[in-house]
Formats: sequence, structure tokens, C-alpha cells
Amino acid sequence: MQNAECALALGAGAPTLYRLSGHSVSTPCGSGCSLSAANVTSTSTSRTLVMRYADASASAGATKSFIFASSSGSALTQHSVSRRGTVSLNFSSGSAVVTTKSTVKRDVVHGVLMLLAWGVFMPLGAGLTRMKRLLPDGKWFIGHTGLVAVGSVIFIVAIAMLEGGEDEVQGTHSLYDGHRGVGVAVIAMWLFQVLLGAFRPNKSIQDGARFGFIPANWRDKWFFAHALMGPLTIGLATVVMITGAIIVKDKYTDSDDSEIKFLANGGVYGVFIGVWALCAIGAWRDRFAKAEGGLEV
Ligand code: HEM
Ligand code: HEM
Repeated sequence: MQNAECALALGAGAPTLYRLSGHSVSTPCGSGCSLSAANVTSTSTSRTLVMRYADASASAGATKSFIFASSSGSALTQHSVSRRGTVSLNFSSGSAVVTTKSTVKRDVVHGVLMLLAWGVFMPLGAGLTRMKRLLPDGKWFIGHTGLVAVGSVIFIVAIAMLEGGEDEVQGTHSLYDGHRGVGVAVIAMWLFQVLLGAFRPNKSIQDGARFGFIPANWRDKWFFAHALMGPLTIGLATVVMITGAIIVKDKYTDSDDSEIKFLANGGVYGVFIGVWALCAIGAWRDRFAKAEGGLEV
């Protein structure tokens, strides 16, 4: 958008023409500007921005796309999905058609996927390791690796959702730096935990060194590290999910975006409580099985 020309109409004042020059600094759209004669007419329910666009290289019948965004309030927040899009203008007929409208809020998809990965799949996967008697014959292991594998794929997609997008709330929300910083720590710890899992020493000395170089007598130390990192990573991820939900809630203030606020208004806590309760019940039933001399692990 560097060098793009735009018209900005705030309140009842006259519109200003700008040439975009950076993230927060813009210069007036002076000589050579294709926009001119911008004017706003207001009624009690609507405002219309009219301006002239001159393009010497446009031929009759050609179309040109313009990006627009408007807001109902005076707060400086992101324009809601229903109030932004692209308009295609036909120079010969003069008709303007709204051609595209961004309907996917990438940060909301990021949040919902993160909640699935770290609120549901990872804790359930970790919880299964405490249910070895309820899920004997290695079923717990298949469950553990399967759930953390699915959680990891969702996690990667959730990270990718933010790549290439603008950091719209950077510097404007007090929780942003913390969310980003601890979020990056979670990414590093997740990678370490997955590598620990993949390069685990064999359980019994008779099986020898895994991959020929990981001694089985490291198993105790490995277990300590893996059993510590798991809950620590899930704990930090939980803090990141709570801050993320608050950022999303504060970012979208227009009424038509309210459907995603359930995340901050108790939604994330509901997911945590449900999943953790399930794990606690499973671990509790497993202790029963142990006390009753149930199935061997
Ligand atoms: C463990 C879970 C999570 C991790 C590891 C994580 C990680 C991150 C990271 C690293 C960024 C910065 C991206 C960048 O600067 O390029 C970010 C931004 C963000 N995250 Fe998360 N996040 C998590 C969960 C959530 C949740 C649950 C929500 C919302 C419900 C959320 C909402 C956001 C928002 C709104 C941004 C700012 C996007 C923008 O700049 O406009 N995050 N997250
Ligand atoms: C982010 C991913 C992972 C998390 C959060 C995680 C978390 C955990 C947790 C919390 C435990 C329980 C320790 C205890 O009983 O106190 C555990 C055990 C275990 N994990 Fe993972 N894990 C992950 C990935 C993996 C992977 C990829 C593998 C193998 C390929 C693996 C293999 C194991 C094994 C074998 C145990 C049981 C150790 C034993 O009881 O002797 N984990 N994991």
C-alpha cells in the first residue's frame, strides 16, 4: 500500500487526501494526485463520500478496483468485516460493484485453532498418560501420540494464520507484547517437547540404545524432563490463550463482530474447565483400577 492514494473523512469535517508513506505516517496527496474534489454529505443516518478520480491511462470500458472501509464509531479500531471491501468501478458505465469482501478474520481463526490445539488436544493427550490402566496394552501411548500429533498440526496451521498479515494491534494493546513473547516461548517449548518424545530412550535396558545412540539408562532423566516440560508448556499456553482472547475482544468493538466475544467472556475458561475435568475424572478412575489391582500396565 506504500504510495497508495486515499481519502479520509472523519466526523463532519472536510475529507483529507493522503499518500500512504508508512505504518503510521502519511503525507498529503499533493501534486500529481489522481484524487481531487472530495466532499462529504451527511444525513442523520448516513454519510456519503464523493470524489473525482483522474487516470490518464484508463480507457473507456476499463474497470479499476478501489479499497474502502468505514466505521460507525469514532474509536480507532479495525473496521469490521461488513464495512470493508473492494469496489470495482466501470469507467464507461460509471457503475460501482462491490466485488470482494474479506470474510475471514485471520486472528479469530488463529485464536479458535489455538484453543483447539492447546485447550483440547494437548491437555487430553497429556492426560491419557495418567490412564495407563484404563487404556492398557499401549492404547494410552497411541492416544497420547495421536492427540498431540493432531494438536501439533492444528497448532502449526494456527501460527501460519498470522503470517503475512498485518500486526494490527501491535503497540496498541497492553497485552500484545506479552502475548507474542510468551507465545513464541510456547512454540520453542513445544518443539523441544516433541523432539524429546521422538528421541526417547527405550524403557527397558534389554532393548538397548534407541537409534543406536540413546542409552536406555537415560530413561529416568528423560522422563523427568518430558513430564516437567509437558505441564509447563500447557500452563504457559493457557496464559497465552487467555491474553489472546482479551486482545480479540478489545479489538472488535462493532456490534456485528460480537459473535466472537464468547472467547473472552468465559468461553476459554469453559473449554479449560471441561477438558481438565475430563482428565481429572480419567486419572481418578485410573487410581481406582490401580487400588483394585486392575490391569497391569
Ligand atoms: C498457545 C496459544 C497461542 C499462541 C502460541 C499464540 C501466538 C501468537 C503470536 C506469536 C502472535 C504474534 C504474531 C506476530 O506478531 O506476527 C499472536 C498474535 C495474536 N494472537 Fe495469538 N497465540 C495463541 C492463542 C491465541 C488465542 C486463543 C487468541 C484469541 C482468542 C489469540 C489472538 C491473537 C491476536 C488477536 C493476535 C494479534 C494479531 C494482530 O496483530 O492483529 N491468540 N499470537
Ligand atoms: C507437545 C507434545 C507433548 C506433550 C505436551 C507431552 C506431554 C506429556 C506428559 C504431560 C506426560 C506425562 C508424564 C507423567 O506421567 O507425569 C507424557 C508422557 C509421555 N510422553 Fe509425551 N508429550 C508430548 C509429545 C510426545 C511425543 C511426540 C511422544 C512420542 C513420540 C511422547 C511420548 C511420551 C511417553 C512415552 C510418555 C510416558 C512416559 C512413561 O510413563 O514412562 N510424548 N507426555
